[in-house]
Order: sequence, then structure tokens, then C-alpha cells
Amino acid sequence: MRLGIDFGTTRTVVAAVQDGRHPLAVFDDDGEFRDHVPGIAAWQDGALRVGWAAERALADGSAEHAIRSIKRAIGALAPDAPVPGLPGVTALGLATAFFVELRAALHARCTLDLDPDAPLEVMAAVPANAPSRQRWLTLEALRRAGFAPLGLLNEPTAGALDFAHRHLELGRKSPKKYVVVYDLGGGTFDTSAVSLQGRHFELIASAGLARLGGDDFDQLLLDAAGVEATAATLERARLAKESLTPTSRKLLLDLGDREPIALDVAALYARAQPLIDATLAQVDGLFASLRDRGIDPDDPRELGGIYLVGGGAAFPAVARALRARFARKLQLAPQPFAATAIGLALAADPDAHVLIREAVTRHFGVWREADAGDDKVFDPLLGKDTAGPIVVERRYRPAHPVGHLRFLECGALDAAGQPVQDLVPCEDIYFPYDPALADRDELATVPNPRRTELMANEIVETYTYGRDGAISVRIENRSRGYGRTYQLA
Ligand SMILES: Nc1ncnc2c1ncn2[C@@H]1O[C@H](COP(=O)(O)OP(=O)(O)OP(=O)(O)O)[C@@H](O)[C@H]1O
Ligand SMILES: [Mg+2]
Repeated sequence: MRLGIDFGTTRTVVAAVQDGRHPLAVFDDDGEFRDHVPGIAAWQDGALRVGWAAERALADGSAEHAIRSIKRAIGALAPDAPVPGLPGVTALGLATAFFVELRAALHARCTLDLDPDAPLEVMAAVPANAPSRQRWLTLEALRRAGFAPLGLLNEPTAGALDFAHRHLELGRKSPKKYVVVYDLGGGTFDTSAVSLQGRHFELIASAGLARLGGDDFDQLLLDAAGVEATAATLERARLAKESLTPTSRKLLLDLGDREPIALDVAALYARAQPLIDATLAQVDGLFASLRDRGIDPDDPRELGGIYLVGGGAAFPAVARALRARFARKLQLAPQPFAATAIGLALAADPDAHVLIREAVTRHFGVWREADAGDDKVFDPLLGKDTAGPIVVERRYRPAHPVGHLRFLECGALDAAGQPVQDLVPCEDIYFPYDPALADRDELATVPNPRRTELMANEIVETYTYGRDGAISVRIENRSRGYGRTYQLA
């Protein structure tokens, strides 16, 4: 069985590939039907619970510790880093526990008729601006939970597939050149232009904010009410927010243990406006980068539409701002919450005949010692929007016994080529330039004075960027014939 799994900050949605259709998984949760699994984790009675069980523990106050937005909490963490707010749980451990629960629910209490013995082959996705360690962690957690990952796309590419499937006949030549996906989810905002030419779905350009989403609107609501933010009060705020309609004037925030607080909706929208403006500024940035590539976003013959996906689109102030800005170009996905999952199922469906080319949407590089002083200079190894698979090489002669490489990802580079915007440090690695240390494991504490005679060694770094977004490097001392390979998650 093939599935598309949209691991979302607030909701994880699954669509299947079944006889040319792509139905959503509906779960029976204690007699209630649910079309998603919430991204909540909680310690209760000495056990880690995730999904609906965790939401119940959070709501009835029986959770000793709880976090919401699992994906956002682990997004920038190293796999074995502890998750803040959940003692004793690592990032990879939590993601794995979540997918184990999802797999169990798919087999035991779901409307899809799954063969218990057949492997579950999965197409998954991450936000277009996700650091590669998040890509690695998502794939690894799926694998450990017993799924067979087929691939990892960028979420907007999946959204574009859903658009193309509904508006164009897949496989036919598209009259429009590309679609712009606007995806305001629970934890991230992504906006991307995806090519529709031929059957090649290709990310042309992408912009977004790694940490802006519906969660921030929940926080805003609590700020307006003067209530302290905890996992439990934020969940209450989310439920209140989701009850808003375009005509709401007052909003009741029910915290359970006291009188509901009445909030003025117009004042709330005024507080939300800077966040909405920040998303529109990203769309402007995306349009500017399209113009740089010779694509005119104002040409309606080329632009298939601005496709609105994700739950944030249901926030009335967002929908209103987008309609004011884009007018008839705006197209609301029929199932905004499910668009990404359905697109992933399409990508997993061999009969849909879609070909996908993905691109790196972040800059990835390493800090190197400058020639003078102890300054550090950023060496951008892989540029934003380059398509994988790609191999990049660096050669040099070292002047120290140990190479300490500090990797970094970021959303943009300034004019001098130095990193700005959404910096995410990746693992540090150490490599023995000095052949006398070739077999040594612990290199971080070795004294590292300058020794010019080491320049007799030629070092070669070979970076490999895979189609799934994973990056690895092989470092070799070519003069002495030894090397090491590192996975840069
Ligand atoms: N009716 C509504 N009004 C306002 N906001 C809503 C409404 N319904 C859902 N949302 C918000 O949409 C967000 C969830 O959207 P979505 O399911 O697209 O996110 P996700 O895929 O889980 O997150 P991400 O894509 O960021 O990982 C939540 O913040 C949720 O509260
Ligand atoms: Mg999403």
C-alpha cells in the first residue's frame, strides 16, 4: 500500500493510493471519527502518549508534561537532542514514537483497508525551507517506525500537485507555466512557485518563515486576553480561534476553570496584521525572485493561480488580506488541510505519472578560518534553489592537526556572501589532518596549534547532496590515503 503522509505541526493527514483515487485516512478515536492526528505529546502515568491520547491528557489535566506542535518543537534539533518540555525524550525518539502511533492507528482503527502484512510505502514532505537535519530526521523516524519511505518532497510541491490534479489533466501539457502555493500551517509559512510544465513538477523558487504559523495566532489571542501561555491554554486558544467566522465580532476564550473571556475580534485582527503582512512580504520577495529569472508574476497567461492551502487560510483576517491583494488570482484549495497529503499520494501513485525535480531552498555552508587573525568566513557550499543530486568539492592544504568544521544553514546571504535570516547551526565535525591522528576518535580536545609542515598534506572534501535533501561529506587526506564520511543531518 502506498500512502502520502503530511506530518504537520498541528495536524498529520494521510492520503492513500487506491485504484486511481486518493482517499483520506479517517481514524476511529473512541467512537469519534477524525481525519487527522494532532501533533501533541504528553507524559501521563509514566508513559509517553502522542496524538489523540495526548490531547485528552492535556485537556483533562492528567498530563505531567505536555507539548503541542511536535514538528515545530523538534524542527531545528539534532536527532539525539532532548526535547524542551518533555524530560527524557529525544527529537528522533519523539518523531519515531509519533509515527509508531500513526502506523498502529492506520492498521487498527482506520477506514483504509490495509493488508497487515504488506509494507506501507510512504511519500512524505517537509517545509521547503526545512534544514536538512529535519529532512534526515523525518525520513529516519518513518523508517524506525516501520514505514518504507519512497521519498521526501517539499510541502509546496505536494500542494502544487494537488492543484494540478484538480485544475489540469495530469500528464497533459499545461497551458499555465507555474502555480504559486501559499501555505500557512500551524508552525510554518511557506510560499513557493512550482513549475507545471510538462509532467515535471519543479520548485522554481521558494520563500517563507520557518517559525510563523497558526501557533503564533494562538499566542496572540492569549496575549490579548492577558493569559499565560501553557500547552493547555494554547490549545484552548486554538479552539477559540477556529470558531471564528468572517462575521464574528466577539470571541469567547473558554479556559475551563473560570468565566470565559470575551475578546474584541477587530482588535485581535489588528494584532495579527503584522504577522499577515510578514507573509505578504515573503510573497513579494518570491515575486521579485521570479522576475530575476525572467518570469513575470503579473502575466496571467503564465501564472496558474495563487493556491491557498493549510489551515491558516481559514483565519478570516488572512483570507481577507489575501483576497484584497490577489483578487481573482486567488484559488482556495477545496480541502485546505488535506491538499499536501493528497499531493503526496499523487506523487506516490505510479499511475499519476508525475515527475518531480526538487531543489535546495536553503544555503548550506561551513565556517572556515580566515587567513588573518581568528576571524571566520562562511563558505557557501550549496546555494538556495540548486537542484539535487549535486556533488561539490573543496581542496586545500591544512595548517593545523585537526580540522574543526562548523556547518550552518540559512535562508539568505547578504551582499558579502555571509549568512543572514533563519540561521540553523548543524553538527560540528572534526577531521584529523595530521596523519598521526588518523585512527583517533575523540578529536575535539586535541591541542590544535598551527603547524605549517602539515601543509604537505592535500585535503579533499566531497559534499553530496541527494534528491531527498540529505547532505553527506567525505573528507580525505589524499597525500596519505585515509578518509572519513559524515552524514550532515
Ligand atoms: N477555522 C479556522 N480559523 C482559524 N485558524 C484555523 C482554522 N482551522 C484551522 N486553523 C489553524 O490552522 C493551523 C493548522 O493548519 P494546517 O493543518 O495546515 O497545519 P499543519 O500542516 O499541521 O502545520 P505545518 O504545515 O506548519 O507543519 C492551526 O494553527 C489551526 O488552528
Ligand atoms: Mg502543513
